[in-house]
Amino acid sequence: MATQALESPPQSPFERMGGHDVIRRITDRFYDLMDEEPAYAKLRAMHAVDLGPMRESLPSFLAGWAGGPRDWWEANPGKCMMSAHGGLGIDRETAEQWVEAMNRAIADATPADAEIAERMGEALERMALGMVRA
Ligand code: HEM
Repeated sequence: MATQALESPPQSPFERMGGHDVIRRITDRFYDLMDEEPAYAKLRAMHAVDLGPMRESLPSFLAGWAGGPRDWWEANPGKCMMSAHGGLGIDRETAEQWVEAMNRAIADATPADAEIAERMGEALERMALGMVRA
């Protein structure tokens, strides 16, 4: 009903995805794939041996990026993700590995709302390809 729509604020993508639990499932699966699959070896080699810090950092970033709690921004004032990646010499091949592993991880995590999950995958793809410098 129209009055109900006025009373309840629209859900954020973070909420529609299933909140922290689903985001954590996605990022854990993403780093498992990166760690285990030879297809992502070049991407894996760019990262530190210990993926523990990334397993905390990426879900925190994605939560705020999707309209949820902004802990990552509070911990990293003024930090821009695009600029932070600008000096890493990311090439098309590694960006495509990132995108493929992320899309697989999103699918495997079976988010509650498939439409928002697909749009999140598309937006992350644009961000990743925008990081290509080499
Ligand atoms: C385009 C392909 C990408 C490559 C090759 C790449 C690579 C990297 C590398 C090498 C690091 C440092 C990791 C370490 O020291 O172990 C890093 C950090 C990080 N990346 Fe990426 N990345 C890519 C795309 C993205 C995208 C699209 C996002 C966001 C949606 C993202 C989010 C992060 C975060 C949150 C960190 C940790 C930085 C921090 O919290 O301060 N990356 N990335």
